[in-house]
Amino acid sequence: MLYPVILCGGAGTRLWPLSRKSYPKQFVPLVGEETLFQASAKRLSTSASLTFAPPVVITGSDFRFIVTEQLAAAGIDPGAVLIEPEGRNTAPAVLAAALYLHAKDPDATLLVAPSDHVVPNTEAFHNAVSKGLSSVDAGKLVTFGIKPTHAETAYGYLELSAQPGTEGTPIDLKRFVEKPDAARADEMVTAGTFLWNAGIFLFKATDIIAAFKTHAADLIDPVGAAVTEAQSDLGFLRLAADPWSQAQDISIDYAVMERASNLAVVPFADGWSDLGGWDAVWRESTQDENGVVTSGEATAIECSNSLLRSDSDRLEIVGIGLKNIMAIAMNDAVLVADMSRAQDVKKAVDALKRKS
Ligand code: GDD
Ligand code: MG
Repeated sequence: MLYPVILCGGAGTRLWPLSRKSYPKQFVPLVGEETLFQASAKRLSTSASLTFAPPVVITGSDFRFIVTEQLAAAGIDPGAVLIEPEGRNTAPAVLAAALYLHAKDPDATLLVAPSDHVVPNTEAFHNAVSKGLSSVDAGKLVTFGIKPTHAETAYGYLELSAQPGTEGTPIDLKRFVEKPDAARADEMVTAGTFLWNAGIFLFKATDIIAAFKTHAADLIDPVGAAVTEAQSDLGFLRLAADPWSQAQDISIDYAVMERASNLAVVPFADGWSDLGGWDAVWRESTQDENGVVTSGEATAIECSNSLLRSDSDRLEIVGIGLKNIMAIAMNDAVLVADMSRAQDVKKAVDALKRKS
């Protein structure tokens, strides 16, 4: 059985002032009417070509009711909602989900996906997953690869052992390089034999548990105890706090993917964005003929290539003659910046943290 596992933590500070620690970006309608979390959950629920078990969501205690409300509004019944006593990054979260599902179904296959990405072509995504299943049967840990467009340092890179065929069949990986520095990223993009890691993974529970045992053995005892001692609470499954606090804070990319040798990738060319900044939100939204996106009480007069968005119930936003500008208004904060400075929004968050 194929079990979707939705990772639902993380704050997304580059989308300040909309994304906050208390209400991260995946719970906000950023592109279209649904929230990214709802769109992800739907993408992992119904399919013409795949049969999904109900999704398992893993999240923090603060978000548990947002998760269940948003799933109910989207008409989705979760298989389980696992609650982390504290965020320890994605390696403990994935291992907990794998151990939980393996105890239920020793033959479980997991499709692990973030809750904050945009994948516009659902059918193409499901086809890519179907292709990946053949490698899963061969004991591989399967990644999904995106053709790089620039030397991004916020992504993982997948080195291919052979050039991709046109049909998107899985290719074995030589290695996985997580978040290189700018010079390495540049080399890898120029080499032409690397894809970006989309952050979506497909594997058998047994294979990923074995990979953790080999490459991140220190996580097995604390995470294992947190799962076996977990308590049911109003339909949620709370992982046990004491053992969980002993688990190292590390991502699955560093803990397992960079070290494993049984990796494969399914190249995916049908649209993917991790909405890593307001420029990406602008790019993924429906633009008018001048490249302008407005949302909420927002008016653009003779503007081009700009994003004007009000999520405030008090503030109306009006732009005149703007070019390459993003302006986002909330009740308590307004951000105005050049579109090319989208990645610097995290500097605003840091500056505000220092002030408070
Ligand atoms: N439950 C839970 N607990 N979820 C978490 C936690 C946690 O402690 N930390 C992060 N997540 C969720 C995030 O909400 C997101 O949906 C997903 O796990 C990935 O975490 P990120 O923190 O966004 O990772 P990243 O973007 O830096 O890097 C990953 O994604 C890139 C593509 O977007 C890596 O896999 C990269 O290799 C990849 O290129
Ligand atoms: Mg991310």
